[in-house]
Amino acid sequence: MAVNICGTGSYIPAHIVDNNDIAKLVDTNDEWIRERTGIVRRHIVDGETTVSMACEAGRRALKDAGISAEEIDLLVVSTISSNIILPCAACEVQKGLGALHATCFDLSAACTGFVLAYNTAAAYLAGGIYRTALIIGSESLSNLINWKDRGTCILFADGAGAAILRADDQKDSPKSYLPVTHSDGERGCALLLKSRHDRNFLSAASSQQDVDYEGEEYFMQMDGKAVFQFAVKKVPEVIREVLEKNQVQQEEISWFLLHQANRRIVESAAKRLGEPIEKFPMNIQEYGNTSSASIPILLDEMNKKGMLKPGQKLILAGFGAGLTWAASLLDWVE
Ligand code: UT7
Repeated sequence: MAVNICGTGSYIPAHIVDNNDIAKLVDTNDEWIRERTGIVRRHIVDGETTVSMACEAGRRALKDAGISAEEIDLLVVSTISSNIILPCAACEVQKGLGALHATCFDLSAACTGFVLAYNTAAAYLAGGIYRTALIIGSESLSNLINWKDRGTCILFADGAGAAILRADDQKDSPKSYLPVTHSDGERGCALLLKSRHDRNFLSAASSQQDVDYEGEEYFMQMDGKAVFQFAVKKVPEVIREVLEKNQVQQEEISWFLLHQANRRIVESAAKRLGEPIEKFPMNIQEYGNTSSASIPILLDEMNKKGMLKPGQKLILAGFGAGLTWAASLLDWVE
């Protein structure tokens, strides 16, 4: 059974932090950040949460698809930055939207998360288990950043994006494609955030000791160079793999939607694939790196601008912590 995206939505916090604002916090400057990353400003939560942004992005995707929340059978939220652990963010979104009939769970795979959420939902739908899915990438990374670390605070930001997927059993519906996914846990230390809950405080509490709940290591830590080198190699590779696996020619692809991690990574992927940069839309200049929200925010922007035409083939490619990387191919039908 084919699976189509029939609606998109996004939510971006209104509060803007530009490069000059960051230069007041750490030893950096606007010119360095623009040149090395492509980022000019980013949007940071100011009262919003990962769940509230996910709800709004989901609500907008439902409106775009012209369906009601009750029609959703599956609701997946991809996030590493939920403001709530129990229940999962997806159940909170279910409550917020009134998606009474949805099966809900979260998916944690950082910047590859939205592509894996897409694959997961598509597999359930193609298998006939569910008919309609809402997938959301939502992150408030500003809560996980050490704002004294210039290697990360210049890069990461907040926002949410969503898509509605529908199973389509019409005879003339486009075919389904197989995704390509990879993980390499051996290299996990390149991008790390220890759990703030990995210490058992019972003995400290029993002996009346003071407990430091907020050590520096409990913020995101990144070996930027290592992640950069991994990304510029693996992203073109996984795109070639997904094309080969599905017997699709590269020139048939209209748009390559890459995780917005760094402008230079996207430019390098375009170059290595021998494609014009115009086929690699970017919005990192406005939003920074929003991890699993970056691809659905980009998708929604392109959709709303009318850039996506029925029959066009798209590749979604995510990469990041894990390390993980993945690419999926789809036909646009909305
Ligand atoms: O989304 C998940 C995946 N994450 C990524 O894909 C991130 C991948 N990595 C990157 O985007 C880049 O590695 C960064 C943007 C994080 C860093 O850029 P870079 O070009 O790799 O910089 P670098 O770490 O090699 O540093 C180059 C120079 C160094 O100075 P020297 O040794 O050449 O004198 C750094 O000390 O730039 C200096 N530097 C800075 N200067 C001003 C490093 N960070 C900054 C900064 N402002 N924020």
